[in-house]
Amino acid sequence: MTEVQQDDGLAFPWWKRGVIYQVYPRSFQDSNGDGTGDLRGITSRLDYVSWLGVSAIWISPFYPSPMADFGYDVSDYCAVDPLFGTLADFDALLTEAHARDIRVIVDFVPNHTSDQHPWFLESRASKSNPKRDWYFWRDAKPDGTLPNNWLAHFGGPMWTLDEATGQYYLHSFLPQQPDLNWRNPEVKAAMLDALRFWLDKGVDGFRFDVAHNIMKDPNLADNPPAGNTAQWHRFAGDFSTQLHINDKNHPDIHVIYKEIRKLIDSYSTPGHERFMIGETHVYDGPTWAALFGDHLDEMHMPGNFGLLKTPWNATAIRSHVEMIEQAVPEGGWPNYVISNHDDPRTATRVGAKQAKVAMMLLLTLRGTPTIYNGEELGMENVAIPADRERDPWGLRVPGLGLGRDPQRTPMQWDTSPNAGFTTPAATPWLPLADDWETRNVAVEKDDAKSILNLTEELLVLRGTHPALAHGDWEAIGGLPEECLVYTRSTAEQRLLVALNLTDTEHQFMLPYTGTGLVITSTGKDRTGKISLTFMVLQPNEGILIDITGAKLA
Ligand code: NOJ
Repeated sequence: MTEVQQDDGLAFPWWKRGVIYQVYPRSFQDSNGDGTGDLRGITSRLDYVSWLGVSAIWISPFYPSPMADFGYDVSDYCAVDPLFGTLADFDALLTEAHARDIRVIVDFVPNHTSDQHPWFLESRASKSNPKRDWYFWRDAKPDGTLPNNWLAHFGGPMWTLDEATGQYYLHSFLPQQPDLNWRNPEVKAAMLDALRFWLDKGVDGFRFDVAHNIMKDPNLADNPPAGNTAQWHRFAGDFSTQLHINDKNHPDIHVIYKEIRKLIDSYSTPGHERFMIGETHVYDGPTWAALFGDHLDEMHMPGNFGLLKTPWNATAIRSHVEMIEQAVPEGGWPNYVISNHDDPRTATRVGAKQAKVAMMLLLTLRGTPTIYNGEELGMENVAIPADRERDPWGLRVPGLGLGRDPQRTPMQWDTSPNAGFTTPAATPWLPLADDWETRNVAVEKDDAKSILNLTEELLVLRGTHPALAHGDWEAIGGLPEECLVYTRSTAEQRLLVALNLTDTEHQFMLPYTGTGLVITSTGKDRTGKISLTFMVLQPNEGILIDITGAKLA
């Protein structure tokens, strides 16, 4: 074991050093037997989170909401939906998390409110309402057609007619999620106040939902056709036929995020740095990098979802990571996502046998990884019977596999009824996976070779190995297309990560002489010295090796 990593203080604040664990509150732990997870449930599982070794939890929205989009339609930014508990429950969660040295990141939804938010109810009341301009209201064009051609993420046009006032309002997602007009100073002030509310409570950071959506072209110009330009990580039907250049990420976004960052920084103190990560589906390196701000004065981390659309082969993964490494500005910090509540489970996307390899990749790249709850168990997408489908996206745009219920099923804790997620008599809000009796935290903790124990071990290793925590990343070229091999190095330490991305054995020459020392492997069946000249990777195998001092051949 190498030296314990020193706490580098502000140069490596907690959000650079650690790993973020995404908790989807409906599905994590139910404390009151209604079949839906809640804040007290999360608190009751903090010892597990602490054992796992992550440094922060990001909790998806728990605010009052009609739940048209399961909480991403907020009707009050400064309260807790009774389904999830109370503000006192949140305070208790925060205290208990901090007592375990776990930071708490709340999900902030800046782009849209619920159509039941008092602001929107006022705004729609009349054309002359003082809050009319808080949202986007437009007349039809003179020929009676919609104000522009923009298409919503969740199907249909971005415009819905309000019969009473005869105007259309804009919504990037569901009609129940009208977009806020951030160019109106009152909107900005109200949203900054909402951020202050949570900062005053002591939260450590925010995950900004569709952060790049909040600034649109001021003239609401039409979007051009997409042609063959890939602009998002998944094909989403009609939505994907447009190039979404006018409905989001207008350059004026930088002005707003500088202001937001200033507010967040004003709450930061050494040892309690506040932080923001944006959900930014921006796949072009320079445009993504610009979201850090020209003086690193915007997002601490614009979210990077590139691995979700990267084919599972060494060339593609390598070129994505190299693109990110090149794009990250000096002083900036990369981050990687391989799953979340919107995308298929990793074990389903890349194959169950590759789940451990994917986890090793995620936890050995340079940057902050996000682990979505259940990924550490190797959970797979769950087939949802038609009569239990809940997600509006899948229901509105059927047939394309866009429904997100399969990756939102309850956490599998143990072998008790309902997998310990809720009381035995309750019906979980989504069905449990069929494999819950064998794939759960209790069973996997007892299995030295489980993905759960591998995840926990890799998290410990990130803390004890400076090269993993903040060392440089470099790929080794000239290897079989099926194997991704890279190093992580500081001046004192060099580690090698060798990943077999297929389920057949591969052999290849490495550019070193001598041997390295195995630190761990996905099969937990490797120990001691290993040749650095000739390597044989078993099917679906990943190995982490200490090669400090190894000489190039
Ligand atoms: C992104 C969130 O992750 C997703 O779950 C939600 O439906 C949309 N933003 C709209 O808020």
